[in-house]
Amino acid sequence: MALMNNGVKERVLSGIQPTHDSFHLGNYLGAIKQWVDLQSSNDAFYCVVDLHALTIETKPEELKRRTLASVAQLIALGLDPEKCTLFIQSHVPAHNQLAWVLECLTGFGEASRMTQFKDKSQKAGSDRTVVGLFTYPILQAADILLYQANKVPVGEDQRQHIELTRDLGQRFNSKFGETFTIPEGYILKAGAKINDLQDPTAKMSKSSSSGAGVIELMDSPEINTKKIKSAVTDTGREITFDEKDKPGISNLLTIYSALTGKDIGASQKDFEGKGYGDFKGAVAEVVIDYLKPVRDKANELLQDEAHLNKLLKIGAEKADAVASKTLKDTYNALGLISRG
Ligand code: AMP
Ligand code: TRP
Repeated sequence: MALMNNGVKERVLSGIQPTHDSFHLGNYLGAIKQWVDLQSSNDAFYCVVDLHALTIETKPEELKRRTLASVAQLIALGLDPEKCTLFIQSHVPAHNQLAWVLECLTGFGEASRMTQFKDKSQKAGSDRTVVGLFTYPILQAADILLYQANKVPVGEDQRQHIELTRDLGQRFNSKFGETFTIPEGYILKAGAKINDLQDPTAKMSKSSSSGAGVIELMDSPEINTKKIKSAVTDTGREITFDEKDKPGISNLLTIYSALTGKDIGASQKDFEGKGYGDFKGAVAEVVIDYLKPVRDKANELLQDEAHLNKLLKIGAEKADAVASKTLKDTYNALGLISRG
């Protein structure tokens, strides 16, 4: 149990964008699996950050569908609304309200140094870059600080955003008095990175790939089997873990090991004397068997939107209670007069 000195469970918060109809295996093994592991021993808050997703142009019906699909997949993957607080970011208005306050504390140069913003805006060009992309990390800081989170489970790519969150929290506290808990990033080791099956030196990602190397959780067993069987392998014949010389085999071993719970050594042993064909067949089987109940459960949940909405309402109410209290303290500390 992750308890603090006063015997209270540690607070965990994380968020994920509803930018696709399906999460992929990298999202699950790199992020969501940790959320599931942390929910029992911590006081965990997890949100689907639909406001962040507005930084990418999406059709309204698409955003709606993807938001619900994200919630359904998170539950199907093991988030239990009885154990954690699962909610949609836009259901709690305090996120936007605190974001504005934090924007007034963030230097223009400071925000300009965020590498994700620099990368994304460089790719799009300044005329096609929205201001929301610039303030994206500040809204993320609000997501975290509102819940007085101690730990934030995220991937390595989010390290700089967590640093900014800490800086903003500390800046506010020192200017206006102790208001926010300063969070720590809970960042996984490199082993949790899943690579593209067609380009095993690049991370599995929808945005940088044709899709042929991306295992989507909601895809059919046939499609996923085909993708795994067509995964790029390396020269040689041995099934050994060697990220430098055998990135393809190593990536498949990482997936096999993560889904079976066997360590890499034991996973390698399973394939001693076997060829690449047998190995890929076995990985495909493990992935398919693992994902089948997830896909079935997510589809079942999506059949009953009223039930999902009910769960989300309960989540939003629990989140709102915590967030409103922090926002009130923040407004008071700033000298904003309360409505009375
Ligand atoms: P994204 O879809 O890139 O916004 O990522 C959502 C979450 O999944 C973040 O916490 C990422 O760090 C994590 N993630 C995305 N792709 C991968 C990957 N290939 N391997 C491990 N984690 C990933
Ligand atoms: N920026 C995060 C990502 O791309 C998503 C996110 C938004 C988030 N708000 C958050 C993650 C708060 C952790 C905490 O993965």
